[in-house]
Amino acid sequence: MSTENKLLSTYRLGDLQLSSRVVMAPMTRGRAGQEMTANELMATYYEQRAGAGLVITEGTFPSRMGVGWLHAPGIYTDEMAEAWRPVVHAVHRHETPVFMQLWHTGRTSHSDFLDGKLPIAPSAVRHQGSGTPTPKSDGKEVPRQTPRALETHEVPGVVHEYHQAAERAKGVGFDGIEIHGANGYLVDEFLQSRTNKRDDAYGGSIKKRFQFLKEVIEATLTVFPSNRIGVRLSPNGKFNDMGSEDFREQFLYVAEALDSYDLAYLHLVIGADFGGFHEMGEPMRLSEFRNVYSGTIIANNGFDQESAEQAIGNGEADLVAFARPFISNPDLVNRFANGWPLAEPNQETFYTFDAEGYTDYPAFIPQQELVQRDASGAK
Ligand SMILES: Cc1cc2nc3c(=O)[nH]c(=O)nc-3n(C[C@H](O)[C@H](O)[C@H](O)COP(=O)(O)O)c2cc1C
Repeated sequence: MSTENKLLSTYRLGDLQLSSRVVMAPMTRGRAGQEMTANELMATYYEQRAGAGLVITEGTFPSRMGVGWLHAPGIYTDEMAEAWRPVVHAVHRHETPVFMQLWHTGRTSHSDFLDGKLPIAPSAVRHQGSGTPTPKSDGKEVPRQTPRALETHEVPGVVHEYHQAAERAKGVGFDGIEIHGANGYLVDEFLQSRTNKRDDAYGGSIKKRFQFLKEVIEATLTVFPSNRIGVRLSPNGKFNDMGSEDFREQFLYVAEALDSYDLAYLHLVIGADFGGFHEMGEPMRLSEFRNVYSGTIIANNGFDQESAEQAIGNGEADLVAFARPFISNPDLVNRFANGWPLAEPNQETFYTFDAEGYTDYPAFIPQQELVQRDASGAK
């Protein structure tokens, strides 16, 4: 059977109709300013990329203590929420649904972001990897701090912040939310034995390590229906000093548990291209998740058009998310559809603070159109 062009076929995601199976992956771009508020430049950026079947925003802080990346946006005040409304409108003008990724940075943050308070985490386990730039470090990386372990009685408060963020996101028109459970941030820190050393209701067993994510899902389910909530996981990743010996059992359990919620999707950062593998064992494969998860699976990390067609064609994924290709190819779907070449992104401007390397990547103009423009004397 030919697997050609399944990637570009429409897809029914719950009650949403996607124009293709190409998803724009969540990407922090640091253009929200010191005030951490969405703006016109960001609306332009997202609108340029609204040819995707589904847009997932950059990670957005659900709470003050979730802040942990320079000039990334939040949604923990009404002002911050309102600032997202034009972004949502810009994407909706193209009839493309847009989900907001909720991102609590957990132990990866630093007291410089948090009015001098230590970052919070399930346990006081320090990130052993490289440091992080902070608002006070003038672009330099400062060493990681040992986070403060949340008291048991504090956890419901953090869960409630996700509920509030989901309400605000819904209030300004987002079609849904993605809970960032990947890449070593707060949710992932609760899930993994490497960073969760608790012996209360939130740690000590595979099931208890899932408890925090479970409560976050259930709190946001009082805002959005289940088919408007997605969860992102990175079972194989070593980014942010992650990787646990029991990763396979943990993530299979989580996927199985998530299956019962009838969510919009399970988003799996499965490859090694971005961030690398932790090498705690044979990396998990999409098919292992397919065996235990019956809903929509989005695959991500290192895919190109061909491998995406393959993953969808052989039934391992329903949708494929592209991150870096969307940075430099705002019209990625059109390029796939027409076989046009892809532009390479410039890493130097991934996280800089202005339009350069952000909204100045052009859409592809085919040769014959250039010739026609020339002939008609069009400017
Ligand atoms: C500039 C940049 C910012 C990113 N920010 C986020 C983020 O906010 N949330 C997230 O879950 N992943 C983030 N990622 C990871 C991407 O979503 C994706 O998993 C990774 O780039 C691999 O996909 P790709 O090979 O299509 O680029 C980021 C990646 C890049 C390159």
